[in-house]
Amino acid sequence: PLTARINNQDNLEIGGCDVQKLVQQFGSPLYILDETTLRAACRQYRDSFKRYYKGESQVLYASKAWSCLAVCAIANQEGLGIDVVSGGELHTALNAGVNPSKIYLHGNNKSREELAFAIEAKATIVVDNWHELKTLVEMGSLKQPIRIMLRLTPGIECHTHEYIRTGHLDSKFGFDPNQLDEVFTFVSKQNGLNFIGVHAHIGSQIFERQPHRDLAAVMVQWLIQSASHGLNITELNVGGGLGVKYIESDDPPSIEEWVKPICEVIQNACIEQNLPLPKLLSEPGRSLVATSCVTAYTVGSSKEIPEIRNYIAVDGGMSDNPRPITYQSVYRAVIANKMSVACTETVTVAGKHCESGDIVIKNAQLPKTESGDILVVMATGAYNYSMASNYNRLPRPAAVLVADSEANIILQRETYQDLLRQDCLPERLKNS
Ligand code: LLP
Repeated sequence: PLTARINNQDNLEIGGCDVQKLVQQFGSPLYILDETTLRAACRQYRDSFKRYYKGESQVLYASKAWSCLAVCAIANQEGLGIDVVSGGELHTALNAGVNPSKIYLHGNNKSREELAFAIEAKATIVVDNWHELKTLVEMGSLKQPIRIMLRLTPGIECHTHEYIRTGHLDSKFGFDPNQLDEVFTFVSKQNGLNFIGVHAHIGSQIFERQPHRDLAAVMVQWLIQSASHGLNITELNVGGGLGVKYIESDDPPSIEEWVKPICEVIQNACIEQNLPLPKLLSEPGRSLVATSCVTAYTVGSSKEIPEIRNYIAVDGGMSDNPRPITYQSVYRAVIANKMSVACTETVTVAGKHCESGDIVIKNAQLPKTESGDILVVMATGAYNYSMASNYNRLPRPAAVLVADSEANIILQRETYQDLLRQDCLPERLKNS
């Protein structure tokens, strides 16, 4: 939960900072990241693995959830490595000071340039498919073997939105496990590749724990299979995946409750098979950043359609949070300057984009609002900024990091000038 409280002015305070004042100072919309909560989540993951797993473990932050220098630097300070999925995320992690030995590059279609960048930086590459594997064989050398893991599709179904499910066999990610022997045989002959382990990811925003238990069991089988090819798996990465509480009815397990069975299944199976414990990797994204952040908007216009619906509109929307329109995601909101006023109204919070589907929250329970109120949407740290766009040429919001009553900018608000930075006007289009 956030380090939040209601102050003497009945205003919401996060990290000791009055949200209304933050908006006055930094503008609106504004992402507000609570450093204490983010650090606590990093520690819970790290400590839970240390507690329940007897072998070595390493938590990686899946930076696709929110890639920027400050968030990567905090994860790094908390001892986490970083999972990146593009040259851009790799560049960000490196610039945040992360040691490349703790950076893992994912992706189902990495370009040759991205692969070369990762090799040069000495990051580990999580190989997704045959095409990539063969490209790496071309790029590898005996002098500097490329550290690789193999991503496999585990064939495990779980209950989450179809777009963010990745474990089923008909997925664009990873090697088909039915070809495992073939892949292992191929890899075992490559001296330019330093094979260190296997990876699997079954999906995101998952609350059930059984799929990850099943995954852990399947992965130990792969470990046994690799040994029969003379390969030595030293690292096993169970992917990301713990879901978070967006609304009251969401009831995810705690990080500790989620980590424990994964550790136990792998540990027990290895002991039973007389195998050395591999280094256990996990790469959460959402559950590290989602609930550490809120988005503050300013309420502007409103519209009442008698007996049908009351709308209020805010100064952002699908450009800073595309999740509702993309996945029908639901969020909860409060009015930062009316924290002690009863929620007597049912209103639909609309964004300001030219699209009727641009709805932030349908039927939110709020106090009576008026123009100028500060509406705060909770749990927006994951996949909001990272999927933000400039749709309708809205400049992307600023982000501030709050802790101990201090607020620091971590992402500057884009300006109109920024919007034109990449625009070019050919000479013949210029008015004479
Ligand atoms: N590892 C791999 C290989 C992944 O594909 C993902 C997420 C993660 C780790 C991190 O999973 P997490 O701990 O965040 O659940 N944009 C979507 C989510 C896409 C997730 C993609 N992969 C959303 O807004 O819900």
